Amino acid sequence: MRIAGRHWRSIALAADGWSLEVIDQTRLPFAFELQRLRCVEDAVRALCTMIVRGAPLIGVTAAYGVALAVRSDATDASLGRALQMLGATRPTAVNLAWALARMAAVLRPLAPGQRADRAYTEAAAIAEEDVRCGQAIGQHGLALLRRLAAAHPERPLNVLTHCNAGWLACVDWGTALAPLYAAHEAGLPVHVYVDETRPRNQGAALTAFELGAHGVPYTLLADNAGGHLMQRGRIDVCLVGCDRMTARGDVANKIGTYLKALAAHDNDVPFHVALPFSSIDWTLDDGFAEIPIEERAPDEVTHVAGRDETGRIVSVALAPHGAAAANPAFDVTPARLITGIITERGLADASRTGLTALYRSTRAPRAAGA
Ligand code: MRU
Repeated sequence: MRIAGRHWRSIALAADGWSLEVIDQTRLPFAFELQRLRCVEDAVRALCTMIVRGAPLIGVTAAYGVALAVRSDATDASLGRALQMLGATRPTAVNLAWALARMAAVLRPLAPGQRADRAYTEAAAIAEEDVRCGQAIGQHGLALLRRLAAAHPERPLNVLTHCNAGWLACVDWGTALAPLYAAHEAGLPVHVYVDETRPRNQGAALTAFELGAHGVPYTLLADNAGGHLMQRGRIDVCLVGCDRMTARGDVANKIGTYLKALAAHDNDVPFHVALPFSSIDWTLDDGFAEIPIEERAPDEVTHVAGRDETGRIVSVALAPHGAAAANPAFDVTPARLITGIITERGLADASRTGLTALYRSTRAPRAAGA
């Protein structure tokens, strides 16, 4: 996607042909800085500290992390250690386990001497697939947005989104934001309400940055404002991403998504989830009982990062020193609150029937364990 007229991806091979360059998402929107990942430990650190984040990008980074590991030591022990370390970084987005399982299946049968080249090839294939998925989600989502916009051609379509499900969360394009970029390119007027998305503010920092850089009109909202706007008829559709969808259509996504789905349901606002196949966990059914929810450090709740008047990026306290804080990073929205899903294969209901109709016709690449 474009920043100041230049095309960027969130992750790319560096000029040396083997290390990785990623955009440091902890510094956005104030500083645009690249970080170099040279070993599997760098990839683990980037995932844990959320230098890279977003379900599809987590998977791609983990795949390249395996490639970095086997480049320096291609033994079974090194491969096993890399899979274990990377797999322990972020528990909720199934794209991580999916990408690691795919790398393991390709690399384990090979002799160590053949592993490094093959690992880079497979990681690149995962990255390219993600770009194609984002483009396809964009086009399918555009068809949906056109239908919704036809109800009031006199004004832009007002879309509410939560967290960041744009190109920064993927390799390019995004999931929930892909249809908005496609609409913008196609000349369909859209306006995006962006939830700030406490505690880490991915909406305020990342979605606002992306949309602004691309010229898509947006308005930032405090997280608690969405229900009010829906009651006033100011939101036409909610469009969010996904970290894990179960086989029956329950969706884990950034904390706060569920509350938006409840408000949308109460106000008859369509609520759509955009995701690639790699976010579907066919092994799970009941999202509440079975999806692991990442619990992050309390200081993400008690403190907030921002830029002070001297231009430095600083963290400031919001709560009394020593305040207890809980920080569940994701919640689960039940399928019954989801109007529909947008995948690289098209639109469907968030249900077992909807998912199997999309994915049964050919041997679709499947996520975790399917
Ligand atoms: O904790 P994060 O920033 O990795 O969470 C990201 C989200 O919840 C996104 O909405 C999700 O990954 C959608 S993916 C494009």
